[in-house]
Amino acid sequence: MRPRRAYHPRMSDRVNVLLIGGGGREHALAWRMSQSPRLGRLFASDTQNPGIASLATPVDVPVNMREIYRLQIFCDKNNIGLVVIGPEEPLAAGMADALLAPGRAVFGPIAAAARLEADKAWCKQLLRGASVPIAEGRSFTDFTAAKTYVETREEPPVVKASGLCKGKGVIVPSSIDEAVAALDRMMNRLEFGEAGRTVVVEERLEGSEVSVLALVDGRNIYLLEPCQDHKRLGDHDTGPNTGGMGVFCPGGLVEGRDDALLAQIQSEVLVPTLDALRREGIEYRGVMYAGLMLTPAGPKVLEYNCRFGDPECQALMMRLESDVIELMLATAGTSPGSAGGAASPRVRLDEIDVRWRPGASCVVVLAAPGYPDKPRAGLPITGVDQAARLPGVQVFHAGTRIEAASAGEANGGLVTAGGRVLNVCAVGDTLAQARERAYAAARLIHFEGKQMRTDIGAAAARVPTLR
Ligand code: AMP
Ligand code: GLY
Repeated sequence: MRPRRAYHPRMSDRVNVLLIGGGGREHALAWRMSQSPRLGRLFASDTQNPGIASLATPVDVPVNMREIYRLQIFCDKNNIGLVVIGPEEPLAAGMADALLAPGRAVFGPIAAAARLEADKAWCKQLLRGASVPIAEGRSFTDFTAAKTYVETREEPPVVKASGLCKGKGVIVPSSIDEAVAALDRMMNRLEFGEAGRTVVVEERLEGSEVSVLALVDGRNIYLLEPCQDHKRLGDHDTGPNTGGMGVFCPGGLVEGRDDALLAQIQSEVLVPTLDALRREGIEYRGVMYAGLMLTPAGPKVLEYNCRFGDPECQALMMRLESDVIELMLATAGTSPGSAGGAASPRVRLDEIDVRWRPGASCVVVLAAPGYPDKPRAGLPITGVDQAARLPGVQVFHAGTRIEAASAGEANGGLVTAGGRVLNVCAVGDTLAQARERAYAAARLIHFEGKQMRTDIGAAAARVPTLR
């Protein structure tokens, strides 16, 4: 299912793009889009991120669902032909639905499709009905019923808030008591807000994890290169879960079996999921991201996300050689004769020749002290420019700001402003080279209390060639 037919865009088909989201993922997307001959003007919702600010023009209206008409008018006025929505919250809230218009494509699923991520209980039911391999479990809205269920299990199950929690709504308890305590935190204390009113309780799976992301244009599925995320804060998978502390790509699969395993994941997981959505009358367009556990019984879905992973996206953008705007337009679908100057005639996903830089990429996340609970903001950062000058290296801004008061200082006033602060990325001919470069760059960047894992890709890098 890997399309190989070449498509040559006409240089004249330029498109103005609106980018929603302000983290490292969106900086990486902005960076890749800026290299496309198809890009007209790039507007961005979050230019507080200095990386995005260096590439895009700020949107001068509020960006939220309550006043979405103002963003619609903005898109009309600025001839936006493509809207790219990075994070899950606006997708789940229906921003793609609201901004779709004749001649304007939106990269990112409509709310009904984003439910795959935003409502884990619904997702599990859908997957079960479609015989997609998943962790066995049940959903609950009643604490007592959930507690009784947990107490009858032999092994402590995994407890998940059904709604969106920025990747932090999953608890993997080590005892039944801990599992009950997790239910109490979610369902009674509402520590995860509304997202925890419904919980999913499921069997704990063992194996290695892999993120398989695909572009989906409603019908066609194009698998992106597999990535290996590192969710725990500390080396050797210790400490609390985070949004992701590092990624390598390609990665996460059993060496030598990659293609067979990917084909299996496509036919047993992604295709039946897409079919199940279509039976519900839901068309999926955008990134479909399956978080999988490779168990002895085969790959099983831990979760679906409706967007690019962060920092998986950064690892992918480092290696993508094809035109990202072409790919996004093909995924999103565009109407011919567009007012926004978007592609005409329409190009389909299966007509694009997708090329990847051979070798590997590696992303090392630098996090603020206190992350993931209480990251400290306002700490001066140095060394970014020096790091970015190393061969094969890019540094994406995730949680940084320029502080006006210190703008004259040697670091340009750059300070921490979020949990995950910077994504230090590198490409290499081998994973070993990519990770050496990323770590050499990461070591040049300093801020008080910097947290970073030192083992991203370490085990896999001992294998000289991955694919
Ligand atoms: P999620 O946000 O659902 O990907 O969960 C975050 C992390 O929790 C995953 O990356 C896994 O490491 C872990 N996890 C989630 N579900 C399970 C499960 N059923 N069994 C074992 N670990 C799990
Ligand atoms: N890196 C994991 C995620 O984006 O959900």
